[in-house]
Amino acid sequence: MRHPTATPALIVFLLVPGACARKAAPTAVKAPAASATAALAPATAAPLPYEARLGKVTFTHYCQTCHGESGAGDGFNAFNLDPHPRDLSDPQFQKKKSDAELADAIQRGGAGVGLSALMPPWGHTLSARQIDELVLYLRTLPTLRKPAS
Ligand code: HEC
Repeated sequence: MRHPTATPALIVFLLVPGACARKAAPTAVKAPAASATAALAPATAAPLPYEARLGKVTFTHYCQTCHGESGAGDGFNAFNLDPHPRDLSDPQFQKKKSDAELADAIQRGGAGVGLSALMPPWGHTLSARQIDELVLYLRTLPTLRKPAS
């Protein structure tokens, strides 16, 4: 006779914490799931070599305002610039320029290499190594282009 009464009590006891856990679960699970997706998103694109990734960090910090996220010359500051920065992700442009020429333009700025003085010189701000990393990153821009453009 002890079992029929003990069993419902035991079931209630087991269900209550279960119900609480179930309520808490969605919020607890949501946050990590969302950030996990965000963290995965860049990794689904072709991974860049380490130096190019360092260059990307520098580019995002110093260059993106004018040159745009993808180097297309559409940074939010670009409309102020006459001439606008060219599309650095254009494969035709990239073919015409050697690494040394790109590094030189970055180091000495537009005025230093006969282009618009609106392209600042970076030789005093960035190390030669950082400029090399930038060039490596610029070389990846054509491969990061959206197929439509
Ligand atoms: C204040 C805006 C501005 C910023 C910031 C800037 N640039 Fe420029 N950049 C320009 C403009 C404008 C031109 C185009 C100059 C021209 O064609 O006469 C240019 C041109 C260039 C060119 C092309 C030179 C060529 O051969 O046509 C390269 C490469 C370049 N920038 C790299 C960079 C890098 C790397 C950074 C960050 C370290 C950077 N720029 C930051 C405005 C900017």
